Amino acid sequence: MESGVGLFGTLEVAQRQYDTACEVKDYLKVRPNAAVVNLGFDLNDEKRADKIDAGEGAIFYATGVFYYFKTKDVKALFCRLAERFPGAVLVFDACNRRGAKMMTKTWLKEAGISNVGAFFSLEDVTTLKSWSSDFKNVSAKSYMRGYRDIYKDVSFLHKLMIHFCDRLVKMIIVKIEFKG
Ligand SMILES: C[S@@+](CC[C@H](N)C(=O)[O-])C[C@H]1O[C@@H](n2cnc3c(N)ncnc32)[C@H](O)[C@@H]1O
Repeated sequence: MESGVGLFGTLEVAQRQYDTACEVKDYLKVRPNAAVVNLGFDLNDEKRADKIDAGEGAIFYATGVFYYFKTKDVKALFCRLAERFPGAVLVFDACNRRGAKMMTKTWLKEAGISNVGAFFSLEDVTTLKSWSSDFKNVSAKSYMRGYRDIYKDVSFLHKLMIHFCDRLVKMIIVKIEFKG
């Protein structure tokens, strides 16, 4: 039987899939023929971002990915996307420095990242707004509770873990809407 902590990991993955799917569905309601691009999953040479036809809009989403990149590279990518894809939306998960440090014991360890100093994490989502004048709006919601709130349905241990995610490691889903 899976441990309570192991089960929480499964809940986290389920929530982030649900969260990003909500954003994709919302975007497609307005732009039904938009390109939907999952960054960090199968974006190989044949599906390079610069080959995407975004004539009818585009929504980019990335989960569990930007922690592997240096902040300066994440910034350069976001700025380039905003410039190249006006009117598109970018959705991704983020956490604060404390959360990124914790990941050096798990996922990031496998990638050889032991010091998260230069790697992407977010203390305050509003700092993203200053990254590019092509950003129209930057917003964030709780990763575990912002889209489908499961708090009342979970065990006491998982309630505590949800508080940990929200308050101590600030796990959020960020949405950046590009101008245009
Ligand atoms: C923790 S997994 C998340 C996978 C998936 N997005 C999800 O939510 O389940 C991290 C992903 O980041 C991708 N990744 C890490 N470094 C990358 C890089 N430099 N370029 C492209 N993808 C990268 C890996 O291939 C892997 O699929």
